[in-house]
Amino acid sequence: MSAADTTPWRVTLGATTLGEREIAAVTQVLTGGWLSMGPVTRTFEREFAHALGAADAVAVSSGTAALHLALLALGIGPGDEVIMPALSFVAAAAMSVAVGAVPVFADVRSPTDLTLDPDDVERRITARTRAVVVMHYAGYAADLARLRRLTADRGLSLIEDAAHAPAVRERDGAFLGTVGDVGCFSFYANKNMTTGEGGMIVAADPEVLARCRSLRSHAMSTSPRERDNGSGYDIAALGFNYRPTEIGAAIGRVQLERLAADREIRAGVVADYREALAGVPGLVLPFADRAGADTADHLFAVLLPAGAARAAFRTALASAGVQTSVHYTPTHHLTYYRRRLPDLRLPVTDAIAGRLVSLPLHACMSGDQSRAVTDSVLTALRANRLEKGRTSHVR
Ligand SMILES: Cc1ncc(COP(=O)(O)O)c(C=O)c1O
Repeated sequence: MSAADTTPWRVTLGATTLGEREIAAVTQVLTGGWLSMGPVTRTFEREFAHALGAADAVAVSSGTAALHLALLALGIGPGDEVIMPALSFVAAAAMSVAVGAVPVFADVRSPTDLTLDPDDVERRITARTRAVVVMHYAGYAADLARLRRLTADRGLSLIEDAAHAPAVRERDGAFLGTVGDVGCFSFYANKNMTTGEGGMIVAADPEVLARCRSLRSHAMSTSPRERDNGSGYDIAALGFNYRPTEIGAAIGRVQLERLAADREIRAGVVADYREALAGVPGLVLPFADRAGADTADHLFAVLLPAGAARAAFRTALASAGVQTSVHYTPTHHLTYYRRRLPDLRLPVTDAIAGRLVSLPLHACMSGDQSRAVTDSVLTALRANRLEKGRTSHVR
């Protein structure tokens, strides 16, 4: 039984592919008696690194923790500016503030390419800029070649928020997360592979990775398993408890094995969506021109026709049993950041923010379910157009 079977939705937005193998792996950990970080986590790190062609990796308790440690390990601190897309999850912005830095929001490239715009990044670089965080929206690679050149030429760090993109190759063949200085992954429940809560860090420089490993566990001189009832260790720096559990690592190892097969199912759903929704007047399907490119197919976001009532559209889909979401409310529209940056305007992001809707996408979806989604989208858009036609006569 999948998680999707336990909800009232006919088609849930996401669903996990947890099964017998994860249950067996967790059972093995439980019977082993050691639940906190240990040898299973270390094996998971090595396997994840291997899948990405990286030398090593550091597992942490969340993608947010990964971003926090990335910033710290790269020496980003008070007064530094970190450029990032506003169209992303808030974690990179929040962790920049947490280290005393200033998040500087940049625009995305276009309504059909929702990744960070290198030209806008370049315009926002100042003498205080220290790093750029790029996010591979929905699993599609951002323009890493440009961003790598831009940052390297100026001695800036490049952090890849690859939460949507585990084991995805960019055009030149390298895996996303391994092109920048540090790559951060999330294993939150809605991600392509999940451990419940969890994250992973890869880094080009082994010393940066070693700093992440140390800061993950209070910069303790001995590992937690060797802890001698609170004595016998030294603390060399300000660190945190961002350790994952052996339970999560055991799940993660199986999820990593499932990733490729799960992705094929996701790709099939996306192909069905693109075929059924192509050519619908006003409806924009981002990344339609990336056919053949490697992607995680993590999300399927559409832009509703300009002027369509998004709330009514989402309500219509909910009535048909189809769960939707929005990825994302741009960070500079959220209260905490809007207060800090009341005048910030990002032309593309601002123009599309009210039109974004994410349709269900997961590796448990059947053909019937994807048809139910596209049928309900087409019906809701027709109703939306009729409603607009009626209200346009009303003064
Ligand atoms: C793009 C992006 N960055 C960062 C995160 C943070 O990851 P986590 O929820 O594991 O802290 C997420 C997911 O939630 C995400 O989608």
